[in-house]
Amino acid sequence: MTHYSKRVVIAHWFTLLLLVAAYFLGEEAAEARETGEALGVSGASIAQYVAHSLAGGAVVILTILRLFFRKTDGVPAPIGKGFMDKVATGVHHALYLVLFLLPFSGMMIVLNSPIAKAILGGDPTLLPIKFHGSPAHELHEILVNVLFVLVGIHIVGALKHQLLMKDGLISRMWFK
Ligand code: HEM
Ligand code: HEM
Repeated sequence: MTHYSKRVVIAHWFTLLLLVAAYFLGEEAAEARETGEALGVSGASIAQYVAHSLAGGAVVILTILRLFFRKTDGVPAPIGKGFMDKVATGVHHALYLVLFLLPFSGMMIVLNSPIAKAILGGDPTLLPIKFHGSPAHELHEILVNVLFVLVGIHIVGALKHQLLMKDGLISRMWFK
């Protein structure tokens, strides 16, 4: 086996698209909420929270499917056995962990704030104005930053293989 299976490849790149969408939708909801703070209302809408939660929730579903595809289809042998290859594998494991923890912490924000009530009751006046001291909100923000750092390392590693080592690593995560 020289390449990841087609469905693992689709899941890998589709996860990237969903993460970009979830990131911007999350930032948009937070910024909109803050615009209302001075007036004592939330500037965000129910639709913004629902859109963000759906994009983030889809990440978990896709990750579960991806791990299932990975197990049933198999994966190519590691490209090398050196120290940096072990670091790369560690980064992959950490990425999978964050793909679960980040949406989970998002769900915790919704469940531990009036957002769930606002969505279920269709009442935007219930939406929170501030999140000060909310551990779930803080954790969610920290995990977004952790994701950024891990993806950054992952991309630098992929580019090092592709451009310096010229071993065609990226084609392993592309269609044959
Ligand atoms: C992997 C997917 C996710 C990413 C990349 C992501 C990203 C973000 C970002 C960038 C913010 C803005 C943080 C800030 O500046 O305050 C945010 C806020 C938030 N996210 Fe997520 N998120 C994800 C998944 C989820 C899920 C699944 C849910 C809920 C089920 C969720 C619920 C929230 C809520 C409620 C906020 C607070 C918005 C506010 O401050 O008003 N997130 N997210
Ligand atoms: C421009 C962005 C990206 C590039 C160029 C890229 C490239 C690659 C490549 C070439 C591989 C195969 C490595 C190998 O054969 O050993 C791979 C695997 C992997 N990528 Fe990415 N990737 C990107 C974004 C992401 C993102 C956003 C995530 C998740 C948050 C991610 C998570 C993973 C994981 C977990 C693996 C390991 C696959 C496995 O064995 O299960 N990647 N990536």
